[in-house]
Amino acid sequence: MYKFKNSIGLIFQRGLHKEVIKKIKEKKSSKNLALEYFDFFYGSTYGKEWHSMRLAMLTGKKYMALVNNFSNFIETGAYFEKNATIDVLKFLQKYHDKQNSHLNQNFPKNLNIFSFDSGDCRDFSKPKLNFDGLFNYYCMDGASLLPVFALDIKKEDTILDLCSSPGGKTLAILQTLLPKNVICRDISQGRLDRLTRMLKSYIPENELIKKINAPSLGSNEENFDRVLVDVPCTNDRHSLHIDVNNIFSKARSEERATIQKKQTELLTQAILSCKLNGTIVYSTCSLSPIQNEGVVNTVLNFFEAESKFYLKIEPLDYLKNYFDYFFTFSNAYLYV
Ligand SMILES: C[S@@+](CC[C@H](N)C(=O)[O-])C[C@H]1O[C@@H](n2cnc3c(N)ncnc32)[C@H](O)[C@@H]1O
Repeated sequence: MYKFKNSIGLIFQRGLHKEVIKKIKEKKSSKNLALEYFDFFYGSTYGKEWHSMRLAMLTGKKYMALVNNFSNFIETGAYFEKNATIDVLKFLQKYHDKQNSHLNQNFPKNLNIFSFDSGDCRDFSKPKLNFDGLFNYYCMDGASLLPVFALDIKKEDTILDLCSSPGGKTLAILQTLLPKNVICRDISQGRLDRLTRMLKSYIPENELIKKINAPSLGSNEENFDRVLVDVPCTNDRHSLHIDVNNIFSKARSEERATIQKKQTELLTQAILSCKLNGTIVYSTCSLSPIQNEGVVNTVLNFFEAESKFYLKIEPLDYLKNYFDYFFTFSNAYLYV
C-alpha cells in the first residue's frame, strides 16, 4: 500500500518534472525575445538586407584600440606597428588618395587609432599600465568612434556629453587634445563614478581637472559648441548577446515602451544646450527607425513649429565613404 502510494507519487512527480522542463524550454530568454522581435520588425523594415545585418549583429564587434595620448604614446604606437595592426587614420588617408576619393575632411590629427584588418574581429589584449600608472590604450567598438568624428571638434571647443557613461566616447573626445573642456552628464551617479575612475586611469589628474571641470561655463546651459547625445536605446547587439539586465526582459518592458519618449526629451535638451552655429550629434546603438529617424524628425518638427531657430541636418556621407574599408554601411538609412 505504502509502496503503491509512493510509486503513484513518483509517477506524479515525474509527470510534473516533465511539465516544468517543458515550461522552462518554452520560456524564452531575453536574448531570444530580442532576436524574435528584431526578426519580425527589422525583417519587415529592411527586407533582404536584414539577413546580412542579422549576421553582423550575431557575430563579434569590430574592435579598435585608442592610443592614450597622455602617456608614453610613442611607445604604444610603435608596439601596434610591430604587431601587424593598422594605423587607421593614416591607412584610410592613403587608401582614399590611391582611389582618388578626394576626401578633404579634416579628422582630428591626434587621434591614434589602431585596428586589425578589415573583417578581422579579434579582440586586443588587455591594455598595460605605463610607468606613470596610466593605461597605454583603450579598446572599444570601432563603430563607437563614428559619433566622435561626426562632432567635428575644433580647437578650444566646449563640449557637453549628455549621456556620457561608461565613457568610451568621452575618452575619445579628450584624446583628440582639442576641446577646451568637456561636461559629462548621466542620470546614474554610479555610472558617472565609474566613468570618473576610467578617465583617471587614462588621464593625469591635473589635466583631467582642467578639461572636465569647467568653471568658465558656470551654470549657463546654452553655451556649448558641440553636444553629444548618445541616448539609452534598445542596445541591439548587446541585447542579442547578454541576458543580464537585458532591455527585452519582462522587468524592463515599461522602460522599453517609453524609450522613444526619453530619447526625444534628451535630444530636445541637447538642442537647447547648444550654441548658435554649434553641432549636435544624436546617436544610438539601435537599427530601429523609430529610435533614429523617428526621434530626429519628431524633434525637428517640434522646433520648426516653434520656429525659435533653424536646425539643419548635416549629411554624414563623408564618414560612410571614409570608413567603408572597415565597416559596411546600410543604404537603408536616411542619416548614417
Ligand atoms: C548608450 S549609454 C551612453 C554610452 C556613452 N556615451 C559611452 O560612449 O560610453 C546611455 C547612457 O545614458 C544614461 N541616461 C539614461 N537616461 C538619462 C537621462 N535622462 N539623462 C542623462 N543620461 C541618461 C544611462 O545611464 C547610460 O549611461
